[in-house]
Amino acid sequence: MSIHKPIKVVTTHQLKEMKAKGEKIAMLTAYDYSMAKIIDQAGIDIILVGDSASNVMAGNETTLPITLDHMIWHATSVVKAVKRAFVVVDVPFGSYQGNSSEALRSCVRIMKESGAHAVKMEGGLEIKESVQRVLSAGIPVMGHLGLTPQSIYKYGTYSTRAKEEEEAQKLLEDAALLTALGCFGMVLEKIPADLAKKAAESVKIPIIGIGAGPDADGQVLVLHDMLGITQDFKPRFLRQYADLNKIMTEAFENYVSDIKSKSFPNESESY
Ligand code: KIV
Repeated sequence: MSIHKPIKVVTTHQLKEMKAKGEKIAMLTAYDYSMAKIIDQAGIDIILVGDSASNVMAGNETTLPITLDHMIWHATSVVKAVKRAFVVVDVPFGSYQGNSSEALRSCVRIMKESGAHAVKMEGGLEIKESVQRVLSAGIPVMGHLGLTPQSIYKYGTYSTRAKEEEEAQKLLEDAALLTALGCFGMVLEKIPADLAKKAAESVKIPIIGIGAGPDADGQVLVLHDMLGITQDFKPRFLRQYADLNKIMTEAFENYVSDIKSKSFPNESESY
């Protein structure tokens, strides 16, 4: 069976229409088949195969170590599970910043090998040629401004970005540039709420916020954070929708205990 399924309910056109109608867009990360299936069935509009896989799946401190091959592996698993959502894949650090040919090669591999629908790249003016080249190949591109985790060592901290006038102005200019180039949307991460509101009002493409206040056109969270699996990451913007760490720990402890006490498996669980 082909990995390229013909019918996908959510499209870039629909996402832009949702913004125009004032309907908020729900986006969540996923990295594997089983989770993506549940998320898709719950009605999520966009699934992001985020390079946050480097943190939550591989245990790295930053997103820098994850490779293009790793991202394609995760994306392929997610795409197999999805029937409705629009699947966006992060282009990992070091596979698009060099030049536009490298960016195109990386994005073509993502699209061809995973069957995903779009890519996401971090940055504005600095990556203009790469964004242009990838878009000209017919690949939908999502931008990512504000806190850009792939540049963590440039800034040295994960604190709120664009609080100063100069950085805020550059962000608005970059948002306008990405829109003019033809991006279908962008993520704005960890910036003041009033700046995100200004950005959302100034462009026609959907702005998806994470730590960017209520006036973005949609919201995204990292799956493991919103499910309460992650223990040591509790920024103000994170709403935790479950305490899976507690639930899973109890399940694992009960399993160990049942085996040790010889109560599992019982007669009805045996052949
Ligand atoms: O990699 C990721 O999960 C992301 C989100 C934080 C937007 O880029």
